[in-house]
Amino acid sequence: MGSFSPGLNQSFASDNHAGVHPEVFAALAAANEGDVAAYGGDPYTARLDEVFGRHFGERARVFPVFNGTGANVVGLQAMADRWSSVVCTATSHVQVDECGAVERVAGLKLVPVETPDGKLTPALAEPHVLGWGDDVHHAPPGVLTITQSTELGTVYTPDEVRALADFAHGHGMSLHMDGSRVANAAASLDLPLRAFTTDAGVDVLSFGGTKNGLMMGEAIVVLNPDAVRGLDYLRMMNMQLASKMRFVSAQLIALLDGDLWLRNARHANSMAHDLATAVRDLPHVRLTQPVQSNAVFATLPPSHTTRLSEFYAFHPWNPATGEVRWMCSFTTTPTDVALFTKTISG
Ligand SMILES: Cc1ncc(COP(=O)(O)O)c(C=O)c1O
Repeated sequence: MGSFSPGLNQSFASDNHAGVHPEVFAALAAANEGDVAAYGGDPYTARLDEVFGRHFGERARVFPVFNGTGANVVGLQAMADRWSSVVCTATSHVQVDECGAVERVAGLKLVPVETPDGKLTPALAEPHVLGWGDDVHHAPPGVLTITQSTELGTVYTPDEVRALADFAHGHGMSLHMDGSRVANAAASLDLPLRAFTTDAGVDVLSFGGTKNGLMMGEAIVVLNPDAVRGLDYLRMMNMQLASKMRFVSAQLIALLDGDLWLRNARHANSMAHDLATAVRDLPHVRLTQPVQSNAVFATLPPSHTTRLSEFYAFHPWNPATGEVRWMCSFTTTPTDVALFTKTISG
């Protein structure tokens, strides 16, 4: 351990640090045979509605994009009037980690709501919705966006999503889900993907693939066609239309045609669970969020954080409180967790 070289140890910083799953690489190689039409006119993209339909219901319509920020920006634009606002959590990726793209590129005002655990509720959203839609001086709330699993590693139950969908629809709004880690949520809940999306009233989903084994590629999944307008045009206008779309689509098929999406997500979640179990009782470690998916949040004394960072990459989440984020992925192994835990214990 003393002769640590950066890059040699497993990263606990992000599930984006993981490589490409071999089955996805094989799918990319297979998709490399011959010429096919561009911009989604290929046989791989032609299969997407059917493949996603098995998970999200036959009304699902799939629009592959390059990345999650693009999925959020294009999806929200298609859902909201230009003058409306989008209610989100204060810790959401759209609010914190997209350089203001929803506001600058989509032109939609974000209304961030403080939450204890990254989860929006009707009660928390209500003060930002009621009375904000009937005066031209306000940007009327048009969309609620939630993240599943959340940026704090917590997971909404189907009932919690349904309550938000009913609240949104009852106030003339739509419900968007940032599902960058939607597979981890399904694995955590041990439920089919549609149980807490389509069947719980979500209108549009940003489906995440990159953190779960793809090289790159996400998809906007329209679950309620009445909730969007102009998605085809908006995807092009926002530079998210891949000319060689077959390579994004082939990856998404590799993930969802069989059970790769679930195997990878279950593995990442179980590594986070094992890590949390191993450090939970250490006197200098305090877990700060329930560990429900593939993230572990904890506070550590600064000296331990400094020492750990000599050996491992991870995110200092809140330097003011000493909170850190440890993320597991489909590439994290039990040995990685054991060695990481040993370093934390020391
Ligand atoms: C919650 C969430 N949404 C969306 C994204 C997608 O971001 P990117 O544009 O980097 O693919 C991420 C990536 O970290 C994320 O954590």
